[in-house]
Amino acid sequence: MIEKAVRILRKGGIVAFPTETVYGLGANVFDRGAVEKIFKAKGRPGDNPLIVHISDLSQLKRLAAQVPKDAESLMRRFWPGPLTFVFKKRPEVPSRVTAGLSTVAVRMPGHPLARRLIRAFGHPIAAPSANVSGRPSATNYQAARRELAGKADMILRGSASRIGIESTVLDCTRRPFRILRPGFVTLEDLRKYVPVRAFGTRSGFKGAAPSPGMKHRHYRPNCRVVPVSSGRWSGKLRELLKDNMKLGALSFRSKIPDHSRIIFSRNFRGNSGRMARELYPSFLTAEKRGVDVLVVEEPQKKGLGAAILDRLRRAARAE
Ligand code: TXA
Ligand code: MG
Repeated sequence: MIEKAVRILRKGGIVAFPTETVYGLGANVFDRGAVEKIFKAKGRPGDNPLIVHISDLSQLKRLAAQVPKDAESLMRRFWPGPLTFVFKKRPEVPSRVTAGLSTVAVRMPGHPLARRLIRAFGHPIAAPSANVSGRPSATNYQAARRELAGKADMILRGSASRIGIESTVLDCTRRPFRILRPGFVTLEDLRKYVPVRAFGTRSGFKGAAPSPGMKHRHYRPNCRVVPVSSGRWSGKLRELLKDNMKLGALSFRSKIPDHSRIIFSRNFRGNSGRMARELYPSFLTAEKRGVDVLVVEEPQKKGLGAAILDRLRRAARAE
């Protein structure tokens, strides 16, 4: 399986593979034609740069021009794992990968199959999430197949992603380091080691988006997603149940009423790890069952809750 994937990558093809966050769609980072295929397969806007995946630190030297000492200590703590670093790039990294930026995003994933693939291939692999642009990320083999059948040259079958939402993206080109996308590694985790500016503070992401991908449509299933605070949960459900619509309800911990028009529901019982892991599969199930409106109870904006909230709000955005 790995051998075939490596052959495809060597020939300039694209391969979807599991990581512990979400499935990725990968190509040889130094092969411009292969990288081009990723943008085409996903229908991805050209101004949204890709994350480059590595299996050992020697590969980082081929990508990053400068790695600050305190970023190295974060690497020792969090790699392999769900943390992506943004560094000044080396000129060899094609500008298509970085969407013309002078920086490159790098992650060493922890999923054993991802690591084996990169190691066997021997070069860094550029890989966005394995979904059609704008849609929820695939977190298991079946979802990756549904998204990318006929578009990827191969889809590596592995276990479902243990984490279920994308990595934290940390900009290490300025001080203090800044979170560009919240993820499984939280602000609180990072601040134990270095000063870090929280995601969305001051400039927010209006106008010049700090992470280019942040301004695009994201994570949206084929039904309306309505995030609701715990305080408004019952009231909002009651209000929506007056209309003749098929509802889905994802609760963080509040009770979900029995009602024939709530055709799909999940209660995450106050467990944010479980909510992260089951969020995108729940989006996809809701869409498959023909839900019109998916009401989602918001977790608290701390720890992993911040990342979940970010995905919910983006999924809910009108455009
Ligand atoms: O967990 C993950 O990060 C997954 C797995 C496959 O590793 N990948 C992923 O890739 O979520 P994607 O393409 O869906 O999201 C990449 C994010 C985007 O928000 C993009 O703007 C940001 O990383 N990014 C990439 N390169 C960047 C750069 N040089 N500067 C700032 N942001 C960058
Ligand atoms: Mg994505």
